[in-house]
Amino acid sequence: MGTTAKIVAIAYLAVVVLGVGLALVLARTTRARREADTERLARRERAWLGVVVAILVALLFGTIFFIPWARSAADGEKQIVRVEAVQFGWTVDPGTVREDEPVEFILRSPDVNHAFGVYDEHDRLVFQVQVIPGKDQRALYTFEQPGTYTILCLEFCGVGHHLMRSRLTVEPT
Ligand code: CUA
Repeated sequence: MGTTAKIVAIAYLAVVVLGVGLALVLARTTRARREADTERLARRERAWLGVVVAILVALLFGTIFFIPWARSAADGEKQIVRVEAVQFGWTVDPGTVREDEPVEFILRSPDVNHAFGVYDEHDRLVFQVQVIPGKDQRALYTFEQPGTYTILCLEFCGVGHHLMRSRLTVEPT
């Protein structure tokens, strides 16, 4: 089990335990009938609004700087790789890029929908992007590990779909 899977499992468990606890407390308190103190409820509602807004603002600023698109686009230097997807093969030009420098993939397809999937040497999916006929698709990615990456088509595009395999070499700088 990977670290991410463990974190997700623990977070999920925490949410379930909290949810069950909340449901039990609610079931108990709603059974006792008494006059509601609307003054106090209104005060609490305002306080909770503040808490929720603070959490959302913290989440926004804690995550927005990790969006890869914004980060890569800010860098002036980038390598361009033109990719053509056809039934049933890839043209990747050039087939070699440098690590730690953003690569802009410009992808096109003259025939049908394909999906450009890039896998590292451990067969882990690095990223994927849809290739759509009649539209240049762009994807920015910075490779942090040199090596030979495998390109697979991830969209069923016809009888030879499984033949759509290629490679991309990432050289150390
Ligand atoms: Cu191209 Cu599947």
